[in-house]
Amino acid sequence: MSGNRTFTMIKPDAVKAGNIGNILQMINKAGFKIVAMKYTRLTPEAAGGFYAVHKERPFYGELVEFMSSGPIVAAILEKDNAVEDFRTLIGATNPAEAAEGTIRKLYASSIGENAVHGSDSDENAEIEGDYHFARTELFA
Ligand code: RTP
Ligand code: MG
Repeated sequence: MSGNRTFTMIKPDAVKAGNIGNILQMINKAGFKIVAMKYTRLTPEAAGGFYAVHKERPFYGELVEFMSSGPIVAAILEKDNAVEDFRTLIGATNPAEAAEGTIRKLYASSIGENAVHGSDSDENAEIEGDYHFARTELFA
């Protein structure tokens, strides 16, 4: 059975462009409930740890530099089938391939600077949420 939680970040490009409000509105309109949220900035160590799965990829250095280049918004979202439905809402990694009406189609500028993160599995949603939030910060 699929889970009901996913984890997201509004990335530094979208924060810098003033799109926090627009993106949160899209998230809410798509039926997601925000159960934890914070405005913060990742150190290069924190960004590197978060994306450690990509450590061997050629874009890892750029990704870490970008993700620690400015403030982000991190949030845990709830909805039935959360992981899959949120990936649909954000669109393809490369905004040039993202479907019309998706967050990346509207607000991302490139494959590297693509506005939002969305967990890719229930297991990673839990790991990533825990990476940013102590369980005590969540409410029932
Ligand atoms: P995310 O984890 O941020 O939600 O993105 P994703 O699942 O759609 O894509 P993933 O393969 O997990 O890649 C993580 C992030 O790395 C950057 N990237 N750059 N220059 C490149 O070829 C490249 N490929 C990936 C993107 O910021 C991507 O979101
Ligand atoms: Mg990913």
